Amino acid sequence: VKSVRRLKLSHSCKLPVTSLFIIIIAGQNVFPKDPYIEVGSSINIVCQNNVQGKIYWTLNSERIDKSWPVTINSSHSVLSLLNFTHSSATLQCHSANTQVLGGTIIRTYTKPSNMSCILTDTIGDSWFMCTWEHQTDSSLKINYTVLWWLKVTAVSDHLLVEWKPTYKVQRKYRCQVKYSTVWIVKIENVKSCSNYTVAVRCASESAPWSDWSQEETVLTKLNQSDVKLHLWRKVAEADENRVRKVRAMWAVRKSLIATPYKQHMTGVDHMETSCDNSICDVNQDAHRINLKVFHNKSLFVEDSVYVPAIGERLPQVTNIQTSTFEGVILVSWKAPREPVSGYMIDYTHNGNIYSWKETKYTNTTLFDLLDKKPYNITVTPLFDDKTGHSTQAHQICSNVGDPGDFTNVNVQAKHKSAFVSWSVKSQEACRGAVVNYIIFYSTQDGPQLNVTVDNTTQHISLKDLNPNTQYSVYVKAIAHTGTTKSSERLFETKRFGEHTFSLSSICTKLQPSNEGMYRF
Ligand SMILES: *[C@@H]1O[C@H](CO)[C@@H](O)[C@H](O)[C@H]1NC(C)=O
Ligand SMILES: *[C@@H]1O[C@H](CO)[C@@H](O)[C@H](O)[C@H]1NC(C)=O
Ligand SMILES: *[C@@H]1O[C@H](CO)[C@@H](O)[C@H](O)[C@H]1NC(C)=O
Ligand SMILES: *[C@@H]1O[C@H](CO)[C@@H](O)[C@H](O)[C@H]1NC(C)=O
Ligand SMILES: *[C@@H]1O[C@H](CO)[C@@H](O)[C@H](O)[C@H]1NC(C)=O
Ligand SMILES: *[C@@H]1O[C@H](CO)[C@@H](O)[C@H](O)[C@H]1NC(C)=O
Repeated sequence: VKSVRRLKLSHSCKLPVTSLFIIIIAGQNVFPKDPYIEVGSSINIVCQNNVQGKIYWTLNSERIDKSWPVTINSSHSVLSLLNFTHSSATLQCHSANTQVLGGTIIRTYTKPSNMSCILTDTIGDSWFMCTWEHQTDSSLKINYTVLWWLKVTAVSDHLLVEWKPTYKVQRKYRCQVKYSTVWIVKIENVKSCSNYTVAVRCASESAPWSDWSQEETVLTKLNQSDVKLHLWRKVAEADENRVRKVRAMWAVRKSLIATPYKQHMTGVDHMETSCDNSICDVNQDAHRINLKVFHNKSLFVEDSVYVPAIGERLPQVTNIQTSTFEGVILVSWKAPREPVSGYMIDYTHNGNIYSWKETKYTNTTLFDLLDKKPYNITVTPLFDDKTGHSTQAHQICSNVGDPGDFTNVNVQAKHKSAFVSWSVKSQEACRGAVVNYIIFYSTQDGPQLNVTVDNTTQHISLKDLNPNTQYSVYVKAIAHTGTTKSSERLFETKRFGEHTFSLSSICTKLQPSNEGMYRF
């Protein structure tokens, strides 16, 4: 690597070196001692004054005017030098009687800037041609060292950062590497599959640090052991040809988001087997479903799950009990006689979406269920690398709600009575069973009256009404798990002398909706 230097020399003042040293030795009360700072930066200089009274500051023997910020307390005076550009200057602190209390020499440096490198090709030889600018005193002899780093290698649990000087460096130099991470995936404490940004800076021995290099971003590799496939399968009943549909399901562990891996399903096991997406057709014999996850065309991680043969003698759980409590389902069962290592519980509310979890115990709790849905729950024992036969529990609702909604409420009014009938939505899953119905009715001025009937009755005749009067009526369905109220209906009882029969049938036809009102 060759480097081309372009120097920009600034005109800086020459130091009155001899006079300075005498002054410095004179006082020890000014800190920091002889700082070396970057040109244009700021620094606070502290003067400790044990003498009472005012003090003042001089810069290169000239008194500093009042525009410079100074903070004073009983024992210290702090001068803030902002945007300091002198290449070197002597700062002194004086007591009111012009006695020098102390001093310090502030020197500044500039760093090379605007560095750029381009790859050049001269007759088959590739070179980096680097240029930079440096504003500095022409009298200084400066050796430049260009360090270049090739390379940040990322594996799953560490980064390797390498750099090289362009040519043999005489002096020792030190470097710092800074890195920060942006988690893509956080798997417990493992830092695999994460984006890191890395930058390096160096300095020769006691010299100031170079600027940070440009940041390089690397992605650490995903550690195979961080990926758990959590594979399971669901075997349907065999059809007339003894072919069973096996649905394979897997989930990369929940903490792992974003899985840009090609997923391959293969059903292999000395039987001819066809798999379409995650569904495989298998015959009555035992099978093993293999899941292979490929990353960049190479096998990354794999797992397999057993599908028993029809009629195979295998352990099976019995006596599954289910109950619900505040939206979770508690499941327990009796262990098979044979020793097993654990149980897989799978559950679904629609036959398309399955959840599954493993336990060592003979009970489990199912969380994160959809509200008021009927769940089919299956328990399968696990042992060695096989599974036993599955046992399905009676369907159970995640929770049971109100009775079903009313579909309509009809009223046929006479002079002194009204016939009210109603119906509710038939047998929706997870609806509370109606215990009884209460019919509430009143005139506009009240009072509200009620009649209760049991769940086998869906009509009632309201008696002792006043003729030619407007009434309102609604019905409440009462279940142990809640109540449902019908919409309110208004009706008017007949005047004496009206023919009720034909009018009520006309009114029924005119009736636009359940919410409408009977008008005569
Ligand atoms: C005065 O200021 C100096 C420098 O900021 C500080 O170290 C010191 O503690 C201060 N003294 C008092 C008494 O506040
Ligand atoms: C600069 O380089 C020359 C030639 O390699 C060497 O003799 C000299 O000691 C170097 N100076 C510093 C300050 O490193
Ligand atoms: C992957 O993680 C495991 C467990 O944390 C660790 O023992 C192993 O060294 C890691 N592998 C690599 C390549 O980092
Ligand atoms: C639940 O199980 C019953 C009884 O085996 C079955 O008829 C029904 O189709 C199942 N429903 C779902 C959604 O799997
Ligand atoms: C399983 O049953 C045991 C004993 O009855 C109980 O302590 C435990 O909490 C239950 N576990 C679950 C997940 O329900
Ligand atoms: C039904 O009416 C009776 C008598 O007026 C009253 O005591 C009772 O509270 C009412 N029931 C309801 C559910 O409002």
